[in-house]
Amino acid sequence: MNPHKISDALTQDLFGKLFPPKYQLIPNLNDLYELELAFYEQQILSDKALLRNGAYFASVGGKFTQHFLMCTGKSLKLPEHSSSRLKSFFEKNLFRTGYGTHGLFPYRGKFHPQMIKGLMNIMGLKPGDTVLDPMMGSGTVLVEAALMGIKSIGIDSSPFCRFMAQTKIDALTMSLNRARNALNNCQEVFDYFAKSVGKPVVGIKARRKKPLEGVMAVMEPAAEYVTQEDRARLTKKQKETSDTYNFLLLAYLDSVGYSERSSRKPPIEQFKAILERYLFVAEKIQKVLNGAELDIAPAKAIEADARDLPLENKTLDGIIFSPPYSFAIDYLDNDAFHLNYLGVETETLRNSMIGLRGKNLSEKFELYQEDMEKVLSECSRVLRPGRICTIIVGTNNNQIGKALGVDPEEVQGLHEILVKRGEKHDFKLAKMMSRPITGISNTMRLEYIVMLQRN
Ligand SMILES: C[S@@+](CC[C@H](N)C(=O)[O-])C[C@H]1O[C@@H](n2cnc3c(N)ncnc32)[C@H](O)[C@@H]1O
Repeated sequence: MNPHKISDALTQDLFGKLFPPKYQLIPNLNDLYELELAFYEQQILSDKALLRNGAYFASVGGKFTQHFLMCTGKSLKLPEHSSSRLKSFFEKNLFRTGYGTHGLFPYRGKFHPQMIKGLMNIMGLKPGDTVLDPMMGSGTVLVEAALMGIKSIGIDSSPFCRFMAQTKIDALTMSLNRARNALNNCQEVFDYFAKSVGKPVVGIKARRKKPLEGVMAVMEPAAEYVTQEDRARLTKKQKETSDTYNFLLLAYLDSVGYSERSSRKPPIEQFKAILERYLFVAEKIQKVLNGAELDIAPAKAIEADARDLPLENKTLDGIIFSPPYSFAIDYLDNDAFHLNYLGVETETLRNSMIGLRGKNLSEKFELYQEDMEKVLSECSRVLRPGRICTIIVGTNNNQIGKALGVDPEEVQGLHEILVKRGEKHDFKLAKMMSRPITGISNTMRLEYIVMLQRN
């Protein structure tokens, strides 16, 4: 081997070949699909748009991007007594998940927000456009779109998801005075929720059917959980109070989940730590937003069925979502405590939940495919021609193999099934990318980003 050839090769700069020097990538960019998204972002977006909404760049022409500023939020740090696990999580995921109000509530199957930002960019979405997530879960798309100045509509059949998504959106702008006050009166707030919502029982999923009446002393009247319709009628002050109530309630429900799983901390300590973290998260993003004077776009969280979207034909500029991965997670079982608290009959809801319908595995898989085709046909109806519907999906080969009675290696991926079903509804495949899944051991190794373009 010619030694010059080696040194010539090694002195080349791969990143320099992909990006001119004025573009500095974000630190911790270490997956191939991230580099791919960064490359498309830089090809598609102007420098001004990259500074406002780019997901993978720290700076352009010496100026920091909003994403970099939002994530670093230099003026704040985690509270001194945070656990080392929490600290290391924040550090590792600073640019991927650790910004905005995404840190509120750890919902199963949640999107990775930085990727959503990158994808919305390469789908051609711009401030003022409208994006839909027909299965919004915890509302990652809504929060991300709001921060990017893109209007959004989120739909989920679970009322708990609507509540969670709405709370995360409100936390971007709500006044935090009352929530700070509540932290100083933590015991009283905890006692109030323990009485009205139900107490956590370590190792047991507690159940409570209905909230009790009454308001704790640190809150003014009107601080009760209010429905979507009621919200529209609230005065500004009532809305602020209700925002705080939702914020505290979400923190309480979050802490119940932790307390049910682990007895490491007494429930009151768990609640206090979570409320402190919620305040930290909201204060951090609000500080950056106030400093940058960015416009936050409106986001609407709706409880509805993705198979029957309450939206007009051809009104959306983009759709992005992640369906349940067949029947990998029982969302109702996971959220039973929270749903019961909101007065939801979980077994009735089961009938509208994709992936949960059906008596046995093979019937479940059949119904899953039928339901997903209905969702695709609805997406095709509401999307403007030429625009993109992006679906992020992985396949649990072992589970589907069992349902079909075939070897897991022979199972057709859900991404392929969705492309075929989408083609029946005026979609064509524009791009497919894959990314490794971390955290789910063995059963799923990759998930796919499927970009379908409306004819
Ligand atoms: C993988 S999760 C989405 C997570 C979301 N991307 C996030 O970032 O939190 C799938 C969601 O689909 C919802 N879902 C299931 N069936 C539905 C239906 N028929 N209509 C609307 N949403 C549905 C579930 O409640 C669940 O929240």
